[in-house]
Amino acid sequence: MGRRALRRIQTELDLSHHFKTYDQLPRPWSPELLFGRTAPLELEIGSGKGLFLCSASQMRPDNNFLGVEIAARYAEYCGLMLAKEGRPNAICVAGDALQLFNEMIPDNSLAAIHVYFPDPWWKSRHRKRRVVRDELARHAERSLVPGGVLHFWTDVEEYFHSGVEAILQDSKLEGPFEPPELPATHDLDYRTHFERRTRLAGLPVYRSEFRKRT
Ligand SMILES: C[S@@+](CC[C@H](N)C(=O)[O-])C[C@H]1O[C@@H](n2cnc3c(N)ncnc32)[C@H](O)[C@@H]1O
Repeated sequence: MGRRALRRIQTELDLSHHFKTYDQLPRPWSPELLFGRTAPLELEIGSGKGLFLCSASQMRPDNNFLGVEIAARYAEYCGLMLAKEGRPNAICVAGDALQLFNEMIPDNSLAAIHVYFPDPWWKSRHRKRRVVRDELARHAERSLVPGGVLHFWTDVEEYFHSGVEAILQDSKLEGPFEPPELPATHDLDYRTHFERRTRLAGLPVYRSEFRKRT
């Protein structure tokens, strides 16, 4: 499914807490400095328009949420949504998730990693650009705290199977477990914008969860 145009961002809101460029991240890495408090950290890869960050940060106020979104316009839009909703515990950074893992995220530091509807990169010569592959599996295993969970959902069956296989081959995470199905009655039932579009179109969503051994 293609992507719809993004509304132009015009705002008087101060986005300085909710939207960061990659260069604005604290070095050395410090979620305490970033969020202004110590709390379990959940990372979302490819936040898009930010529905997951908005609703999860409201549902779990005791956790911090960091979204990493490679498209700067979407990352800024996501930051705007978080600022509008007034979520001090959620921030979106414009950047590449794998670079963030390689350069910043320490071992045993994430309570959860969320990957929802990652770009499928249909052409076989582009497959190596996929986010859910061997490299992410290794980073997930080392960076999750014991008991931490990796969530991987997609509407592309072939990507689902290859992603699950990569996670099983390149990490010792336990799974895949199937998360419970939610009833579709209103917007809040959808975890992300792409899930909403997929389910409203009557198409299947493939869901998996993996857990790091305690
Ligand atoms: C198909 S969209 C899904 C957005 C959202 N997760 C949802 O379900 O509505 C995939 C998103 O991942 C982002 N993305 C792709 N590669 C990325 C990477 N290496 N690091 C961070 N974000 C990435 C894209 O820019 C895009 O916004």
